[in-house]
Amino acid sequence: SPDRPLAGRHVVVTSGPTHEPIDPVRYIANRSSGRQGHAIAAAAARAGARVTLVSGPVTIPTPEGVDIVAVESARDMLAAVEAALPADIAVMAAAVADWRVEAAPQKMKKTGGGPPTLTLSENPDILATVSRSAARPPLVVGFAAETENVIAYARDKLARKGCDWILANDVSAGVFGATDTRVHLVTAEGVEDWPPETKDAVAARLVERIAAAIDEKAPR
Ligand code: C5P
Repeated sequence: SPDRPLAGRHVVVTSGPTHEPIDPVRYIANRSSGRQGHAIAAAAARAGARVTLVSGPVTIPTPEGVDIVAVESARDMLAAVEAALPADIAVMAAAVADWRVEAAPQKMKKTGGGPPTLTLSENPDILATVSRSAARPPLVVGFAAETENVIAYARDKLARKGCDWILANDVSAGVFGATDTRVHLVTAEGVEDWPPETKDAVAARLVERIAAAIDEKAPR
């Protein structure tokens, strides 16, 4: 029906930061609030979709009508996303840590021998992995947060990660944790500049665009 255009569709959304453990009591994190990803999950649910929201640790409430899977690290998040497939649509809005720490099994102690060295290794790229998987959803959307050359980097990301759309975010003016945001929808067809608006409005607009595109990409 026109007010529930995503009825019968399954949407997987990632949201929030990841926490990468250093030892049993410490972790490395980032400032993602989860607001944009949660708003997209909420908007998709309102449009009638079944929504699996795979979220890192956040303090905001779980939107009504979505199935939440709470995770901590990037590797947990990838496993949860893969377990949630198949899906018609994947939207990767999480701020995934690029690196994880080779975590100590016990709390690290001050030794008097100076500070420890943290050994980092690269995390899996969830967006790229899902975009290239056998269970790839027909429509995969990623985000790009950039402070310069926003469109050029987004085009590059589209190609590198193998997703269909990138919502490119200009974060030069403190969007992390804020309510208002400025995005550009970058696809193979071109670039759409969206007006500055709230993350809820961006979510509603994205879900509208998804609803308009999905029936062609994945006929029922
Ligand atoms: O490479 P960059 O982090 O700028 O890419 C951002 C996009 O890729 C976002 O959609 C983010 O959710 C996704 N991503 C991911 N897994 C990673 C890193 C980024 O899914 N390890």
